[in-house]
Amino acid sequence: MVQDGQAEIRDAFDAAAADFTALGRHLWEPIGAATVAVAAPRPGERVLDACCGTGASAIPAAGLVGPDGLVDAVDMSAPMVDELRRLSAGLPQLRAHAADVTTWTAESYDVVQSALGIFFFPDMTAGTDHLVSLLRPGGRAVFTIWRGESMAAAGRHLGLAIAEATNTPVPAPRPPHLVDRVNQPGGYAAWLAGRDLVDVEVTVHEMALTMTPEVAWLVITGSGFRGALAKVPEDALHTVRELYLASLRDAGVTELDATTLIGSGRRAT
Ligand SMILES: C[S@@+](CC[C@H](N)C(=O)[O-])C[C@H]1O[C@@H](n2cnc3c(N)ncnc32)[C@H](O)[C@@H]1O
Repeated sequence: MVQDGQAEIRDAFDAAAADFTALGRHLWEPIGAATVAVAAPRPGERVLDACCGTGASAIPAAGLVGPDGLVDAVDMSAPMVDELRRLSAGLPQLRAHAADVTTWTAESYDVVQSALGIFFFPDMTAGTDHLVSLLRPGGRAVFTIWRGESMAAAGRHLGLAIAEATNTPVPAPRPPHLVDRVNQPGGYAAWLAGRDLVDVEVTVHEMALTMTPEVAWLVITGSGFRGALAKVPEDALHTVRELYLASLRDAGVTELDATTLIGSGRRAT
């Protein structure tokens, strides 16, 4: 699930914000919890949660750092940040900011974590290097990405449904991206080791979503896939939904792979 263009990515998540929380229970929250379990923020620590969305990893991190700690949660989608402010009203140690985290500056952090965000950066390597540079020496970085073809089936079936409903060609596969080369544990560990990080480890977090019609459609409306619906006329949306669900059914897709790789390391210098 990677798209081109910062504005399109932001628009997609702006539109997805309302359903993002509903999908969160099934998808974002377990992945966020697994990310935070690896980062293990301690009471009083300073954490940057990059690409925070509505707080799947930022909120549990804020609970762990407690009132003497700090979580700066940064997302470029203002509706996401608004939703996070609503959800974290009782956690003053969590500060939510609407900003591009690739240019975020602050005093150094004990922990920098990002769940399912770094592959959206226009330059994934430079953006990740920037996040690592915000750590104090010895501080912990945790970056979670999709493994292999995770989530891809939903995008494929959506593409087919939109093409049929709007009588347009099936979209071409997206151009090759760095994440295609680092989306298995070995390649990811090697890439992370080139990021001024030591003690690099990659944990595989196996997960599958049961694709009830409700969840299958939320996967589209509550995620970056939402961007593909932007060009679908309002009166064709219902048809797209029905064709998408039928396409999944015909292909026998009852579960969607949502496995992630949780990469971690400590800043070397
Ligand atoms: C798939 S969501 C994940 C959100 C959250 N971390 C979670 O796991 O629920 C990706 C998020 O990255 C944000 N994002 C992408 N590029 C960004 C950037 N350069 N700066 C800040 N946020 C960004 C999007 O707006 C979106 O909310």
